[in-house]
Amino acid sequence: MTHPASLPPLWLRDNCGCADCRDPRNGQKLFQITDLPEGLAVAAESAVETDGEPGWEVLWEPDGHRSRYPQSWLDASADADATVDPRTEDAKTLWQAADLRSGLRSDLPSGLRSGLPSAEWDEYRLDPAVRLRALEAVADLGFALLRGVPVREGQVTEVAETFGHVRDTNYGRIFEVRVEENPNNLAFTGALITPHTDNPYRDPVPTLQLLHCLVNSAEGGDSGLVDGFAAAALLREEDPAAFEVLTRTPVPFRFADAGTELSAHRPLIGTDPHGRIREIRFNNRSIGTLRLPAEQTTAFYDAYRAFARLLLRPGLQLDFRLTPGDCLIFDNTRLLHARTAFASSGGRHLQGCYADLDGLLSTVSVLRRAQAVAV
Ligand code: FE2
Repeated sequence: MTHPASLPPLWLRDNCGCADCRDPRNGQKLFQITDLPEGLAVAAESAVETDGEPGWEVLWEPDGHRSRYPQSWLDASADADATVDPRTEDAKTLWQAADLRSGLRSDLPSGLRSGLPSAEWDEYRLDPAVRLRALEAVADLGFALLRGVPVREGQVTEVAETFGHVRDTNYGRIFEVRVEENPNNLAFTGALITPHTDNPYRDPVPTLQLLHCLVNSAEGGDSGLVDGFAAAALLREEDPAAFEVLTRTPVPFRFADAGTELSAHRPLIGTDPHGRIREIRFNNRSIGTLRLPAEQTTAFYDAYRAFARLLLRPGLQLDFRLTPGDCLIFDNTRLLHARTAFASSGGRHLQGCYADLDGLLSTVSVLRRAQAVAV
């Protein structure tokens, strides 16, 4: 049992929930950290009932303020892991293609143990539990496939609006993935596209991408997904020095056309302050010219090639074919996507848009809240 007096005083007082410290209407803090007195300490603690459960009342010195803390809340402070960043590898289920294909992995969320994480559009739209499961799959596995989405232009933005907001870019609110006469991007040709993340030359990068298939009758044009977090974790295991180099070397990514010039300097593998994998940027088409001392350049290129080879390793990439009405939602900070070449004479038309993970994670939390109330 954790006693208030055993906890850091400034932290404990900063978390006081009384009506003087937090606005009861929204829970937001009403004081600055600099407002708290010097020499803050617990003068006395007494057992009380608070929020309908056992807890403690603290009398503070030197200012005589009183705070109440439920015991369960105090006990949770001993669990430093309780605040895992939902964007890092620790909050994800990492996978290789076979894990999803065979259904052998028992640690995958129930309902997703065989096949791809998917949902029928009508059920997704009408049933919050189905919507929650699909969006949880995006958070946990990095993607979900909606099937039976109406095949009409612009529909992809309606899908994004079921959980968040469309991110407009220089490609427009929607981008067309089909063969174009004068493409400003190889995506808009029939060429093979190797596994990559989109728009690494943007900061912040669009954290989600949606691709809605309207036509796919071309020879070729199959899709592939690679879990970049799983690949980076493998690199860390097999070649820790290369992993280290890729987390520490800012890479200049660049995109330019007649009306746009974008650049961002970010590492290929982004980590959080604890060293956990948090973001992958990988795109051979938009990597700019690195200018570093020769030794660092060589180390970077060796590591870059090692990671690129690993990403192409058989078994990592999940291959499938999008058919009209399929809409893929995926985490663009984690999954790499690819497609095989297709004949430019055949019909292939996807519409895509970008959106963001914060909106999706918010929708997941709110849907969970509603579900908890319903149970
Ligand atoms: Fe792409």
